[in-house]
Amino acid sequence: MKPTRPDYSAIQADNTAAEKHPFSAAVENWYLQHRRSLPWRDISDPYRIWISEIILQQTRVVQGYDYYLRFLKRFPDVFTLAAADEDEVLQQWQGLGYYSRARNLHAAARTIVAAGAFPDTYEGIRALKGVGDYTAAAISSFAYGLPHAVIDGNVYRVLSRHFGVETPIDTTAGKREFAALAELLLDRAEPGLYNQALMDFGALQCTPKAPDCTVCPQFDTCIARQNGDVSRLPVKSKRTAVRDRYFAYVYLRLPHGETYLRRRPAGDIWQGLYEPFLLEFKNKPDLAEVFTAPEAATFSSSATYRLLRENVLHVLTHQRIHADFYIADLARPVDLPGFQLVPSAEREKYAVSRLVEQLFEAVEAEETTV
Ligand code: ADE
Repeated sequence: MKPTRPDYSAIQADNTAAEKHPFSAAVENWYLQHRRSLPWRDISDPYRIWISEIILQQTRVVQGYDYYLRFLKRFPDVFTLAAADEDEVLQQWQGLGYYSRARNLHAAARTIVAAGAFPDTYEGIRALKGVGDYTAAAISSFAYGLPHAVIDGNVYRVLSRHFGVETPIDTTAGKREFAALAELLLDRAEPGLYNQALMDFGALQCTPKAPDCTVCPQFDTCIARQNGDVSRLPVKSKRTAVRDRYFAYVYLRLPHGETYLRRRPAGDIWQGLYEPFLLEFKNKPDLAEVFTAPEAATFSSSATYRLLRENVLHVLTHQRIHADFYIADLARPVDLPGFQLVPSAEREKYAVSRLVEQLFEAVEAEETTV
């Protein structure tokens, strides 16, 4: 029987004897040859590092790159960010999604300015709104060289494969075991280098699907590679639950192109972003269900309406939104509590989700073909 977990005392001994564990040395060497040159690397400004890490929380490097540069151009330091309006911060964030990140960033900038300086301890950084264990370890190691190991999906994958750890990563026991292993492997002399190296190694070499192990410097030492377990590790005990939601957006349009938008409330996705009239259903609704709904009564009898696009899928971490877009032409304004009337020329000033942006694009496409 092959072991389901490594001999941790041997890993500890290897790290103590050599100062650096052979695994960590190999990852760092690999990184020095294959590293991506990124604008938030090789700098020590905690503000810039912080912005990059928040952008990269739910966004791939290739997608985040331009946003990072644009965001820093508009908000070059923590004072500019703290002084900005929330609406403008959300607008700069538009397209990155997961807008609570932008709201937390803004709130934390105000906390930092009130405190007088960027925090320079792990605990101080971890206490900022929107900063979890991973982000605190990244910022404190990159900006201040503090010895904290990053742990995320990439790290679980690399460590579980290399050391043959079978403990499921989505259990308390698994999280504890991987945290202890990550701690054992951390290069305490250069924690920032080690963390960056592990991030790139996971993203570029030890990829989730079909990694090319033949070019991996850890080919001989990787337990999963030896046992043919690369595609099976890491182990998860259950699949994350994904909720299906069915949205029907109705784009209300007055004769001069004005439309109605409202701000999304707290307690759901896209808090603070703007959107047209929306109804949510348990299953995909048809046109009659949308326009006979009690909430639509204020406009449905006086509007001409039709379906614009259907089955637009928007995937979030724990939700799959299935959206249908309708357009309804109104002869005169209606009373819609909570909504504001927006002239068409001003619509683009409102921060919206990517899904609503697609609705606007569908409306525009329709307007240019009529
Ligand atoms: N993902 C999260 N933080 C990162 C960083 N600093 N570099 C590359 N990818 C990352």
